[in-house]
Amino acid sequence: MRKNIVAGNWKMNKNLKEAKDLIKGIKKGVSSKKSKGKRVIVAPSFVNLNSAVKRTEKSIIEVAAQNMHEAKSGAFTGEVSADMLSEIGIEIVILGHSERRSIFAESNELLAKKVDTALANNLEVIFCFGESLEDRKSEKHFEVVETQLRESLFHLLKENFSNIILAYEPVWAIGTGETASPEQAQEMHAFIRQVLEKEYNKELADSVSILYGGSVKPANAEEIFSKPDVDGGLIGGASLKPKDFLAIVEAI
Ligand code: PGA
Repeated sequence: MRKNIVAGNWKMNKNLKEAKDLIKGIKKGVSSKKSKGKRVIVAPSFVNLNSAVKRTEKSIIEVAAQNMHEAKSGAFTGEVSADMLSEIGIEIVILGHSERRSIFAESNELLAKKVDTALANNLEVIFCFGESLEDRKSEKHFEVVETQLRESLFHLLKENFSNIILAYEPVWAIGTGETASPEQAQEMHAFIRQVLEKEYNKELADSVSILYGGSVKPANAEEIFSKPDVDGGLIGGASLKPKDFLAIVEAI
């Protein structure tokens, strides 16, 4: 079912001590009473996942990984498998972040495999996608987003979507301080639901949570979240300070 979700993508930030402090700060500000009906997710780096899982055990905070490899196991130096994540209590993985796509050359096709592996290992997927500035300028943004969804997700069965959270992140708004306007976010989210309805059905389109990501901060969160098809946010920079992250959680 569609939920209000705020997820913090810490990227390659925070060593163990800093990660512990950040979790402590967030924990102080979220209580199950205050956060009723909301999901609060944090995604530290691989090495800090274990500690994060232990430190959030008695809170509503959920812990996600930022990536994983598509293979079960094997000679993939430097990589981490779905099983390794599950085994330490991780139940969510972010896949397809634009930095993985652009810096590490992850394609739609590769991401389709990662999604399959994650779902087969009972991991919930936060699937990221979004157009570049060039795509938007040449008015190809709808087409690009539809292709990303089609090539990585539309081989899935309807029932798989109960384990998929979508995160629309226009690349031009990530870490740039430039946010899509609430209207631009709403327009794209509504388009995504239309595409889902066309491919599957209305019930599925209405039930998938779609997060917006790209320079969400305390000052703009409420307005973006007020849009009917925006179910929450994937937060980068502003998730690194408890005060900012908590203000965004409040805003949803
Ligand atoms: P940002 O990052 O909030 O720093 O723009 C968002 C993201 O990369 O998920």
